[in-house]
Amino acid sequence: MVKHEAQSRTVTAGDVPPGRFPAEARRALYAAITGRRDIRTFAADPIPDDALARILAAAHHAPSVGFMQPWSFLLIRDRETRLRVKELFDRERQAAACFFDEPRRSQYLSFKLEGILDAPINLCVTCDPLAAGPAVIGRNSIPETDVYSTCCAIENLWLAARVEGIGTGWVSILKLPQLRAILNIPPHVIPVAYLCLGYPAAGFPEHPLLQTSGWRNRTPLRELVHYEQWGMKERGEWKQLAPLLEEDPLDVPI
Ligand SMILES: Cc1cc2nc3c(=O)[nH]c(=O)nc-3n(C[C@H](O)[C@H](O)[C@H](O)COP(=O)(O)O)c2cc1C
Repeated sequence: MVKHEAQSRTVTAGDVPPGRFPAEARRALYAAITGRRDIRTFAADPIPDDALARILAAAHHAPSVGFMQPWSFLLIRDRETRLRVKELFDRERQAAACFFDEPRRSQYLSFKLEGILDAPINLCVTCDPLAAGPAVIGRNSIPETDVYSTCCAIENLWLAARVEGIGTGWVSILKLPQLRAILNIPPHVIPVAYLCLGYPAAGFPEHPLLQTSGWRNRTPLRELVHYEQWGMKERGEWKQLAPLLEEDPLDVPI
């Protein structure tokens, strides 16, 4: 086994107090968050194993209810398997079209909503509700916290892939029983996300495709912030925060 020098995981800079991150590191994190995109067209270039290992490790460092770690990462390269998932997607995509009236139906059908065959790696992130036995700290009242935890792992994975220059696309237009059958996933295990991973064929767009195509805009942050009680827009003690939410706070230099 090759031994590596352990790399420091703490970011240090001369005048930054312990436990804080220097401005450059904070900017890098926010750049990854705002520059993350759902990617659906991929170059054929393979993903290096060391980058893939880091991405999976980042996912595995996610928070989880009662430290349950209910996730598994099912890596898929086999073309036959991907063809079967793609067929499943094609059927479901067509079926979902009936939920939209024209002209949105045609627009929906014009979108490329997966990269199953062109991505070098497909990855199914699953959640095992039994992973930590019957009693898990913090999960009694809200059993779904196992899936919430798995979603935290997926977002970590998505951001880690972004900083590696690797795109991720989430494909949810799939029927779960059939997906379970194709991937041999036991009935009690939940396939939470079917992801396509690879280098994007056309870079990372600045804005979501659904925004640039006119389907839907990003909701202004201020509309989603309530003060003290649901629906309360009176700012009271929060009045100094409110104006900062008007402009995109991540556009302001730090
Ligand atoms: C739970 C979930 C399911 C999604 N399913 C799909 C999908 O089936 N196909 C697709 O093209 N994008 C899918 N997306 C990506 C969203 O469309 C995308 O995140 C959103 O439009 C915002 O764009 P951005 O991720 O590029 O910022 C999904 C995202 C999430 C979080």
